[in-house]
Amino acid sequence: MLRIPSFHYLLVFLLPFLLAVLSAPIPHYNLSKRETTGEKLVFSHFMIGIVSNRNNASDYDADMQRAKSYGIDAFALNIGTDDYTDKQLGYAYESAANNDMKVFLSFDFNWWDPSDASGVGSKIAQFGSKPAQLTINGKVFVSSFSGDGLDIATVRSTAGLDLFVAPNFHPGEGDFSNLDGALNWMGWPSDGNNKAPQGGVDITVTDGDKTYLTTVADKSLIAPASPWFSTHFGGEVTYSKNWVFPGDLLWYQRWNDILKSAPEYAEIVTWNDYGESHYVAPLSSPHTDDGGSKWVNDMPHNGWLEMAKPFISAYKAGSTSVSDYIKDDQLIYWYRPTPRDIDCDSTDTTMGPASNISGNYFNGRPNGWETLADEVFVVSLLTANGTVTVNSGGTEYSYDAPAGASAFSVPMGLGAQAFALTRDGNAVVNDTSLKEIVSECIYGIYNFNAYVGTVPAGDPDSLQADGLAALTSGLAVACEATPSLPATAPATVAVTATGTPTPAPTASV
Ligand SMILES: *[C@@H]1O[C@H](CO)[C@@H](O)[C@H](O)[C@H]1NC(C)=O
Ligand SMILES: *[C@@H]1O[C@H](CO)[C@@H](O)[C@H](O)[C@H]1NC(C)=O
Ligand SMILES: *[C@@H]1O[C@H](CO)[C@@H](O)[C@H](O)[C@H]1NC(C)=O
Ligand SMILES: *[C@@H]1O[C@H](CO)[C@@H](O)[C@H](O)[C@H]1NC(C)=O
Ligand SMILES: *[C@@H]1O[C@H](CO)[C@@H](O)[C@H](O)[C@H]1NC(C)=O
Repeated sequence: MLRIPSFHYLLVFLLPFLLAVLSAPIPHYNLSKRETTGEKLVFSHFMIGIVSNRNNASDYDADMQRAKSYGIDAFALNIGTDDYTDKQLGYAYESAANNDMKVFLSFDFNWWDPSDASGVGSKIAQFGSKPAQLTINGKVFVSSFSGDGLDIATVRSTAGLDLFVAPNFHPGEGDFSNLDGALNWMGWPSDGNNKAPQGGVDITVTDGDKTYLTTVADKSLIAPASPWFSTHFGGEVTYSKNWVFPGDLLWYQRWNDILKSAPEYAEIVTWNDYGESHYVAPLSSPHTDDGGSKWVNDMPHNGWLEMAKPFISAYKAGSTSVSDYIKDDQLIYWYRPTPRDIDCDSTDTTMGPASNISGNYFNGRPNGWETLADEVFVVSLLTANGTVTVNSGGTEYSYDAPAGASAFSVPMGLGAQAFALTRDGNAVVNDTSLKEIVSECIYGIYNFNAYVGTVPAGDPDSLQADGLAALTSGLAVACEATPSLPATAPATVAVTATGTPTPAPTASV
């Protein structure tokens, strides 16, 4: 009711002024001025719940420095209600300040109670004035996972600070009238019911953005970008989940979509949620084991952040073309470690007896597994055109890649995976992945996570002891909780066949 008259007021009295401001030359924002309305910012969702083992602010420095160097402006600090939350938030805010990064609170309503608006406001009051707090036009930025029903007026009054409230309320469920923006969390195509598309229902991420844009109207959208989703939590951990969302070339397609749709803010989902396989942080980033190391060990994702880097730069510059931001020739590749139809039922007993299957807790392959293709995915970031050759287990594929970013996939072949870029017949860069594709159940379980590599190769990256702590728990086969990628790549498989690569789909995802 109130919005319509004030909008008219805006149009009639303020429009001439606004037009004058908008048609003025775009000012060059320096760092201290950059958090202003209309400036595109990139966030990444950071799970405080997985870093209880950190002992000081320095333990956050590598994450802060790394995120900043890839163009991420702020971490959304996802908090539950654990006894270590305040201590870790203190370290995170301190490290961010020391590293010229920004952070903000993101309340996780799996653990927080939407009826506890004053508790939420008090927590914001506790941290919102710290130097590293992200502000937009002086307003303290705050977000959430879920939380429909939260009384925003009480949050604002209890916080006692001017707030920029952009939670993950859901269109049709939450009351958006007192918000400054909203986060669309659903970075994966789905059936609308938190599972992979099925029964002919395929709600794309872009569909979700459109619904959010209609609902937030003239307020800000935080649009998600997520590379993957796969989780397989067994009965030995209290929250059991067993599903995937479509991944494949999602990360590449989504960043292309973001360049086109240019949302006000973008959020990488996530930095370090290892258990759901959508982390882009190094495996070595200090964290505990929520049960996810069974599918995270030996599965670095650093290449995904490499791929995103020029897209982040283009997005923040308001450019629809990534080409100008590609400075070196680079290939990013990824694949699941096993074909999807291998049968792990006899050894994958992590999900408990078949007689007790229901909901998210059931035996066997993760729900949605049919939506993932048995392919090796390759993104080329090139300064000039070239030929990308893939040897996947002895079948060779050649792809004529244009300058700029492009992507294709080839069927996965068992064994070593080798990648080469040539230009005018001359070698440019090449490498063989440390991870072979195998037809066996690694640790006896279904693993639908992705291995991500780059050419030239990045630094070695492996889980530390705390991140491996629960690896053997609940497994039916004996194994050692240690990183096991080799120091040097396996020998390539002699080429005995050639095949045709498939270019990336151009439809939005
Ligand atoms: C950046 O902006 C701040 C605030 O307007 C100003 O004080 C400072 O001098 C600027 N720095 C540079 C390098 O332009
Ligand atoms: C911070 O704690 C880590 C262990 O978590 C330790 O290795 C490091 O030396 C500590 N740094 C400082 C500055 O105290
Ligand atoms: C059945 O599954 C539930 C979780 O949905 C779990 O709490 C319970 O322990 C399981 N029972 C058996 C016999 O495995
Ligand atoms: C690559 O670029 C060269 C010129 O630099 C051109 O001659 C050649 O046709 C291009 N190849 C492809 C596959 O586009
Ligand atoms: C890989 O790179 C090396 C060193 O530049 C080169 O000698 C070799 O021919 C390259 N291999 C391929 C398949 O391009």
